This record gives sequence, C-alpha cells and structure tokens, in this order.
Amino acid sequence: MTDRPRIFSGMQPTGELHIGNYLGALREWVRIAETDQFDAIFSVVDAHATTVEYAPGQMREQTFETALTYMAAGLDPERVTLMVQADVPAHMELTWYLSTVTALGDLYRMTQFKEKSEEHRNNVNAGLFCYPVLMAADILVYKATVVPVGNDQVQHLELAREVARRFNARFGDVFPEPEARLTNTPRIRGLDGKAKMSKSRGNTISLFDEPAVIHKKLKGAFTDELKLRRGDPGRPEVCNVFTIHCAVTEADEVDRIERDCRSGALGCGECKERLGQRLVAELDPIRQRASELRGDRARVIEALRAGGARCQLLAEATMAEVRAAMGMSTRDMG
Ligand code: AMP
Ligand code: TRP
Repeated sequence: MTDRPRIFSGMQPTGELHIGNYLGALREWVRIAETDQFDAIFSVVDAHATTVEYAPGQMREQTFETALTYMAAGLDPERVTLMVQADVPAHMELTWYLSTVTALGDLYRMTQFKEKSEEHRNNVNAGLFCYPVLMAADILVYKATVVPVGNDQVQHLELAREVARRFNARFGDVFPEPEARLTNTPRIRGLDGKAKMSKSRGNTISLFDEPAVIHKKLKGAFTDELKLRRGDPGRPEVCNVFTIHCAVTEADEVDRIERDCRSGALGCGECKERLGQRLVAELDPIRQRASELRGDRARVIEALRAGGARCQLLAEATMAEVRAAMGMSTRDMG
C-alpha cells in the first residue's frame, strides 16, 4: 500500500465551493481516489487563505465546511488522507527553505499574483507573493508526483517543478518533480460566460445551490452572442453552457446538443433546461450528504485530525532529509 505513487491537492477555505472547483478538480479527486492506485492526500489550505483579507473568526468554520464538502462529494477518509494545512507546520518551514532556491523573477511572472495584487491593491503582502512557494512546499513535503488541479494552477505547478529542480541541483536529489493532472473541463467560465468562475467574481453556481436557484441562474447565463433566438445557428465551442454540458451530460447526448445547436434546431432555453436537470441530478446527492455530515461534526473533525497526524509523520521524515541536505540544525552535529 505504501509504495503507491502519492497524489496531493488542496483548496482554500474561502467560501462555498462552486461547480468550477468541482468539475475542474474535486470530482477528479474522487474518481482518482476510487481507483485506489494512489496514496492520496487532500488538504484544506488555510494558510494560503491568509494572504487576502479575511475574518479570523470565520476561518475555522470555512475550513470545516470545505473539508465537509470534500467528504460530501465522495472522498472517504478510510481511503484517502484528509488534512488541514496549518496542522502540519512543516509546510511553512519548507516554504522558507524553498524560497531560497526560488527566483524572484519567476514569482513576479505568476498570473495569479498579478491578478490578485490588482484585486487587493490595499493589501499586496509578501505572503501573496510567496503563495506559489507555499504551494510547492505543500506538494514537495510529501514528495507527491501527481497534482490534480484546474487550469489556473498549471503555472504554479511549473514553478513547483522548477523549485524542485533547483533544490536538487544545489543540495542533492531530494524531491521528485510533480506533474499537474487536468480534467477535460479544466476551466469553467462563470455565468457571465467570460471570466473564470470564481468566488471573488460572484459568477458561480455553488455546489449547495437549491435546484430552483440552479435553474434560475442558468436562465441568466451567457451563451453565444450570435445566437439570439432559437433558429439561429449556435457555436458550441464558444458557449460556456456547452462546456458544462461536456462535463455532466452523457457523450451521445452532448453530440446531439452540439449538432442541434449548430443547426438552430435547439434553442438556448431548452439547452439550459436540460443542463439544469443534469446538474441537479449530479449535485443533489452531494448537498444531501453535506447536510447529514453537518449533523455529525465529530466525524469530519476526527478524519482531519487523524489525517493531520499521519501527514505530520510523513512531513517530518522529509524535513529531516531537507535539514541534513542543507546543513541545518544541531541534529547531525558531532
Ligand atoms: P481555489 O478555489 O482557488 O482554491 O481552487 C481550488 C481548485 O479548483 C483548484 O484546483 C483550481 O484550479 C480549481 N478551480 C477553481 N476555479 C475553477 C474553474 N472556474 N474552472 C476549473 N477549475 C477551477
Ligand atoms: N493554489 C491552489 C488554488 O488556489 C490551492 C493549493 C494550495 C494547492 N496548495 C496546493 C493545489 C497544492 C494543489 C497542490 O487552487
């Protein structure tokens, strides 16, 4: 069991997860976990979430809710390890060491840093800048080789590989190079049809939206600006509603939708109606399991504590290697 390749991924506890998180990452985590081919660790990365303004009083509850959502979506703590980042301080310790082999220029190039420093102009802190180094540490501290994420994290993964290479070149072969693993819908746009679906943009369908809310949001969703009425031929390749269909609708039905959209036989209203039904069918069980789990808080908390304890041991073993390789601490002093 222990020689299975290791997989690591995480999400920030910044509010209810949305279908972008789910179709871009979380559902893939569940599928991967079900194969039992990997030793999988999934984290709620609370330390990452401190890089933007937040309410300390709400952080724990959001961390809990994010972990609960993982379980509701189908991650079973008997088969995978669930953990909260701040429960294993080695992530932060390794961040420091890795920061010394990370080029400033590489960090300046990060798209997410540029976007977030625009968005939070009054709080462009060093943590926001070093965010990708902490992410590299999350992965490398467990020597994970596969990292299932959405498209927006690919650049961070490339940086993590570069950091691993530089560390190995300077201090010896300690870290494997992790690889991103994407789904076939690695980037879901928001209801505006343009920007990435994200909590901060308020353009989301939440995993916990009630069926009526899902249908209502879809009614207002942007499709193809050239398809104004039913008979107009549409272009599925530019339509976000079609992208989401690709993620949740059976392949032969997707083929029919594509054909009928192009010919004009299928209108956007009907297409959205079908998508709403598919989404509700997919999300209903998750919403129900989440509400059951809310009545059994101890189960979630115990899973996280047990996961944290296991990760603590794994991470300490890597840190002993790192400190020895770098000549740190009194440990090997004679
Ligand atoms: P975050 O909410 O930024 O912590 O993202 C958690 C995970 O969801 C990461 O793997 C992201 O790449 C993924 N993700 C977030 N938004 C989207 C989106 N709109 N489409 C696809 N994947 C996404
Ligand atoms: N940066 C990721 C995001 O915003 C979250 C994250 C933190 C992560 N550490 C990670 C993802 C390690 C994968 C592996 O989505």
